Amino acid sequence: MSAAGDAGAGAEGERLQKVLARAGFGSRRLSEELIADGRVTVNGEVAELGRRVDPLRDEVAVDGVPAAVRPGLVYYLLNKPRGVVTTASDPQGRPTVVEMVPTEPRVFPVGRLDVDTEGLLVMTNDGDLAFRLTHPSHGVEKAYLAEVAGHPSPAAVRRLREGVALDDGPTSPARVSLTPPNALRLVLHEGRNRQVRRMCEAVGHPVVRLVRYRIGPVTDSSLAPGTWRVLERSEVRSLQEAAAGARPGRR
Ligand code: URA
Repeated sequence: MSAAGDAGAGAEGERLQKVLARAGFGSRRLSEELIADGRVTVNGEVAELGRRVDPLRDEVAVDGVPAAVRPGLVYYLLNKPRGVVTTASDPQGRPTVVEMVPTEPRVFPVGRLDVDTEGLLVMTNDGDLAFRLTHPSHGVEKAYLAEVAGHPSPAAVRRLREGVALDDGPTSPARVSLTPPNALRLVLHEGRNRQVRRMCEAVGHPVVRLVRYRIGPVTDSSLAPGTWRVLERSEVRSLQEAAAGARPGRR
């Protein structure tokens, strides 16, 4: 097999267009066009038609966005119910998100939701994507529906939008809207511990129920609580793009 860093098109490895097609970039023909158009890099260098790669070692990117070319990667979308913990095991014996999806290959949650929070959670064995999606500098947006105590005033909503002081620092500007009397939609780029709960508490409206309904571009209102599905390749791709593109300053 060609090692990472091999220059040019060795006779070993798999054809790049085949690897790209398998990773969801359309037919081999379309993948060839991507290569011919100079949109594909292997280990940082623009690839030429005829290039072969080792999908286990070579880093393939399309338009600068890393492509999930390693075989055996799986991506699930789980609708976590309330009462389930976002860890692999729980000393208190509560159900875990890992028990709610297939056990082979082993996957882990991307980020976390509090035990009392419901909603969408990506689970995967793709450590690169997980790292990029959760890294604070990437700021992939997440959307929440919070049912809160009391009736938030326009001033409270404005404070949530502009940033509230928390004990670990002020929150960044967020998109927040109110559906009267007590349902808030919050779209955040940050992912601090219990952030939505702490923000709402800080403006005097503790959260009664919290649901995450979107992660970057991925949403699914028909996925029942406690069920999961495999993410479409196009969804994985759009998550890759969100993780690569959502940098501070482009929010
Ligand atoms: N914010 C919270 O407060 N809890 C979550 O689970 C996610 C975001």
